Amino acid sequence: HEWHAWLRALPKAELHLHIEGTLEPEMMFELAGRNGIVLPYADVQAVRDAYQFTDLQSFLDLYYAGAGVLVTEQDFYDLTMAYLRHAQADGVVHAELMFDPQTHTQRGIALETVFAGLARALREARDTLGISSYLLLSFLRHLSEDEAFATLEAALPLREAYADLWIGIGLDSSERGNPPEKFARVYGRCAELGFRLVAHAGEEGPPAYVRSALDTLKVARIDHGVRSSEDPALLQDLIRRRVPLTVCPLSNLKLGVVHHLRNHNLAKLLRAGAVVTVNSDDPAYFGGYVLDNYIASADALDLSRDELVTLAANSLKASFLPPAEQAGLL
Ligand code: ADE
Ligand code: ZN
Repeated sequence: HEWHAWLRALPKAELHLHIEGTLEPEMMFELAGRNGIVLPYADVQAVRDAYQFTDLQSFLDLYYAGAGVLVTEQDFYDLTMAYLRHAQADGVVHAELMFDPQTHTQRGIALETVFAGLARALREARDTLGISSYLLLSFLRHLSEDEAFATLEAALPLREAYADLWIGIGLDSSERGNPPEKFARVYGRCAELGFRLVAHAGEEGPPAYVRSALDTLKVARIDHGVRSSEDPALLQDLIRRRVPLTVCPLSNLKLGVVHHLRNHNLAKLLRAGAVVTVNSDDPAYFGGYVLDNYIASADALDLSRDELVTLAANSLKASFLPPAEQAGLL
């Protein structure tokens, strides 16, 4: 398709991407092999066959288990470099990657190992692939706020060494029952420290969680946010305040947030004036990288070329790049 090449060539940023969610089954086996880990699957196909999710938690259970093969600095490097090559092939010029340190420190992996592997790949890709990037350290919301504070305290000594990359904080994992306000104090501290703030809200959780992420956590972007349209006053606020939503269509489909992409509200949100962006979330688990998300959405929702241009431009403008750098990429 001629327009796929056109879409690929549009400069875009990926703003909602969990690096642990880019672990393809092939790499899962490779890393398990070199780390002496026995997987509960016979082969790559068995892993793919297991990816039949009914909701967010059914995915998270396999996602956290899969991350268990990431042990050495080289593992984190290889994972990140493989993602960056996919991203470059999709026309991504800037990526803001979330990572879940608690998933690794809970298994006895040193925080420094995680940072070092991610950073080596990101810095190399800046030179060899021409992709700029930032890191968003994400707290797991099913754990306590005290554990988030402990993670922050453990990471702060590394801040200076990774100051070119680690610019922000995110909040992910099981949304229902873990409202944003549970993390009000740690987000307040992160704001004082000068970090940029995002949080998952309104993926499975109610619009009230989006309101709380905005007003209590004071986030600059909402990850997902698709349930915001259930509260018209909230949606109007998001539009008026130009708060970007990092929407992940194939993720929403695979986790049952929508039952068909035709029913996805991405186009309605965009046409209502919301700052919508398109992202892949956990591409190895949801069957598509960012370009696949653009193409599937365009097909299902009849997005026009102008709308696709707007989505790509939104992604750069909603990034945490300085405005002058955004302008250079647009
Ligand atoms: N962690 C990785 N992907 C996630 C998602 N879509 N929602 C919440 N937590 C996540
Ligand atoms: Zn996510």
